[in-house]
Amino acid sequence: MPLPDHFLWGGAVAANQVEGAWREDGRGPAVSDVAAYKPHLSPTEYAAFHTWTRESVEKAIADTDDSRYPKRRGIDFYHRYPEDLALFAEMGFRTLRVSIPWTRLFPTGEETEPLRAGIDHYRAMFREMRRLGIEPLVTLSHYDPPLHLALKNNCWVERSTIELFERFARVCFSEFGEYVKLWLTFNEIDGILRHPFTSGGIIPDTVEGSLDQACYTALHHQFVAGARVTALLRELVPDARMGCMLTMLLTYPNTCRPEDVAATQLKERLLYLCTDVQAGGAYPRLALRALERQGVTVPFQDGDEELLAAHTADFISFSYYNSSTESVSPDAERTPGNTILGVKNPYLDSTEWGWQIDPVGLRIALISLYDRYGLPLFIVENGLGMRDELTADGKVHDPYRIEYFRAHFAQMIQAVDEGVDLMGYTSWAPIDLISSSTSQMSKRYGFIYVDQDDEGNGSLNRYRKDSFDWYRKVIATNGTDL
Ligand code: BG6
Repeated sequence: MPLPDHFLWGGAVAANQVEGAWREDGRGPAVSDVAAYKPHLSPTEYAAFHTWTRESVEKAIADTDDSRYPKRRGIDFYHRYPEDLALFAEMGFRTLRVSIPWTRLFPTGEETEPLRAGIDHYRAMFREMRRLGIEPLVTLSHYDPPLHLALKNNCWVERSTIELFERFARVCFSEFGEYVKLWLTFNEIDGILRHPFTSGGIIPDTVEGSLDQACYTALHHQFVAGARVTALLRELVPDARMGCMLTMLLTYPNTCRPEDVAATQLKERLLYLCTDVQAGGAYPRLALRALERQGVTVPFQDGDEELLAAHTADFISFSYYNSSTESVSPDAERTPGNTILGVKNPYLDSTEWGWQIDPVGLRIALISLYDRYGLPLFIVENGLGMRDELTADGKVHDPYRIEYFRAHFAQMIQAVDEGVDLMGYTSWAPIDLISSSTSQMSKRYGFIYVDQDDEGNGSLNRYRKDSFDWYRKVIATNGTDL
């Protein structure tokens, strides 16, 4: 049987999409709190991303109509986590990926002392997870930099943010290290290049010079911060492990036309840049040259290179939802995917949001990453966003979701059989939550249905979908009965 006995089956959520309670216990505003739900946008418009300006951010934060900003309410996980953890435990979860908002401990990011209420909250939550036999897997930064830092100085563009983040991480490790042994630095760290505001607190119209340069500067600061907090974790919690996290944007050449292959290769070079730095300890030469040709300089300071080389990740985690293709043809038909707009693959089906479903791609991703780095891997996001219907008898029949996971698990198991060292799998998301890109509730991912619509109406009651029982069986049989 290929999957090891200690394989960590579970699910993944992010605080900004589930917690709500955005002003409770002293929490400061985060960039996620200004993301409005916009009805009637097409999937391509969603994929084009919000173009933030200082004016639009200030207007949104001054808007007291919380109903327009779904991430302010989430699914009330902040209060309902005991009930939700119990449901996850019922499915047999061995792990749960969560994140800790920086602003729950340091409301603006700049305070010198953390909020006790925030510390108490997460200590209680992690204790409860341990009691239920659920290993916490915790992301330090998942798309929620402090809004104050974004407005003050474009957050991660500023080098001083590194120290502030280190202060936050120090509190996390000293207060929660007793319970949490698996950590991730930045969710989809490469995301800062595609959505600078959400990921890095960068407001494009306030950036001096080119936005491209600002994004790579911020990314470099995140790399340095990641290495510094990895060193800190090793000092404060020696039995813990730190992972990096990549958006696995698997891209195939659209045809065997050599130009398509070359364009895909360039894309891939930049895709792997982040993991090369975080897991390999250095910027790869060809990627640096590609950046130079783009007019981008990496703002190295004395000691950065040594730091990056010394404190690399213990394991590589990644999200995988869809693949796409690359073509140099101007007429190529495009379709959205996770944070990208790629070229359509004629061999694949897509969801209503245009994301192309590709289970074999998961195996390809696992093998490519393992072959390149030889480090343990962890699939920390994978799942299917669909509209679900709650029937009058409180059921949700979601055979499409079961089919999606079944096909992906079969490929995952095959990759392990081929020799990949895989620590675990956490589905995105085990419970319906607010979509990151669209702020919709109706783009549902969970095994658990949450009674809430896009406008925030509903009881917030939880219901087990058909996939809930199916996933419980998969975990109980360690993937032998799909
Ligand atoms: C990943 C993010 O990119 O994709 C998650 O890390 C996000 O936060 C997930 O929710 C799915 O994307 P979406 O836009 O459908 O919520």
